[in-house]
Amino acid sequence: MAMKKEENSKMEEIISLTKRRGFVYQGSEIYGGLAGTWDYGPYGVALRNNIKSLWWKKFVTDREDMYGLDAAILMNQNVWKASGHVSGFADPLVEDLKTKKRYRADHLLEQAGFEVKGLKPEQMDALIKEKLVKSPDGNPLGEVRQFNMMFKTYIGAQQSDDSISYLRPETAQGMFVNFKNIRDSFSPKLPFGLAQIGKAFRNEIAPRDFIFRLREFEQMEIEYFVNPAEWRQQFDAFYAEQYSFLTDSLGLNPSKIHKVEVPDADRAHYSKHSVDTEFDFPFGQKELLGLAYRTDFDLKAHSEASKVDLSYFDEETKERYFPHCIEPTFGVDRLMLAVLSDAYTEDELGGEGEKRVYLKFSPKVAPVKVAVFPLLKNKPLLVEKAREVYQMIRKEIPATMFDDNGNIGKRYRRQDEIGTPFCVTIDFDTIEKDNTVTLRDRDTGKQERVAIGDITLHLKEKLLK
Ligand code: GLY
Repeated sequence: MAMKKEENSKMEEIISLTKRRGFVYQGSEIYGGLAGTWDYGPYGVALRNNIKSLWWKKFVTDREDMYGLDAAILMNQNVWKASGHVSGFADPLVEDLKTKKRYRADHLLEQAGFEVKGLKPEQMDALIKEKLVKSPDGNPLGEVRQFNMMFKTYIGAQQSDDSISYLRPETAQGMFVNFKNIRDSFSPKLPFGLAQIGKAFRNEIAPRDFIFRLREFEQMEIEYFVNPAEWRQQFDAFYAEQYSFLTDSLGLNPSKIHKVEVPDADRAHYSKHSVDTEFDFPFGQKELLGLAYRTDFDLKAHSEASKVDLSYFDEETKERYFPHCIEPTFGVDRLMLAVLSDAYTEDELGGEGEKRVYLKFSPKVAPVKVAVFPLLKNKPLLVEKAREVYQMIRKEIPATMFDDNGNIGKRYRRQDEIGTPFCVTIDFDTIEKDNTVTLRDRDTGKQERVAIGDITLHLKEKLLK
């Protein structure tokens, strides 16, 4: 669907702000970029790290049934044969017969106003032919065919069929192939899960929408193993946990979050039931998180292909079976975009009729929690005191920064755009009068005076809200 003008301009504003303020840069920018890749600057890294640590805390450290893992990106090609990715991990590709440019058939149909949810590639092909759908350049289109999205590479000095490998298209397989190692090391009883955060790669036909659809991205995934009789209950429990991660941990607006059952034809080849969590991005309601019931598809397939028994003997039921798997999957980049676009706010507090732009991050995700300034940077007494206060606060709140660049107005503007919830200013009253500082609230612009001795505790309380 084409973006409406205001949505388009909101995305442009976000892209421009995140570049200007050091969150996101175009990948390989000085060479003209590389489609589907973006680089993260200091505040981008800090924001991502906050998202990742909140996730790890909620889903791994705070639970007793979860085991962390960090598996290699490159894996034996037999993993991808057994998992079905070599034969089945594909998107519908269609070519402009004149320009030879390639497109996702479902995207072209969507842009032409057709409902594509649930359509198989052959049905898309038939629709394109029947309705004479053209390419964006107005030319006829060829046959819809399946395009495998895995990046292929060769391991070592020989380029032969035996040395083929792939950049992993999902972190999940690293967990399935380590199922036995975790069982041998920790003897967990069902239900239990493996969790991992790491890069994944997909050769998208049409990367687009900033950091939404990427060729290199980062996933946070859980493979949760259960007795098959319990799959539904665990599935629903994970949906609720995903929702609470978005609202309670990241502070996303609940009214922008939507639960969508995935139609049969749109489910991944390994899934028997999938529910997506969609989010209102500036370019429309799109998938943010996935939740799939992978059954025993993967453990069974790897047992058969590797000849290593991955079945489980259930002491309670005295049965041997392959555990079934519930998979909640999260994309760090999409979460980052959801957080950024939800936080992007404009108001009238810019002064002199100017609009103000700020990122209304929840303090939990804000890359910088507190900024400390001297009112003037050429007054050594103010600077010295400000440095002292800065050192004191950062002992308790590490994401505190010292800022003496430009005048105070510019500093507030910069901190608003970074999304810093609180600014602390040291002025002449601090030194000459009463040892108090000015504390400014990002969202209201209101200022209050707080004694230096109370400021750290006061900030900690506010940041917890
Ligand atoms: N492992 C599920 C996915 O990558 O979408």
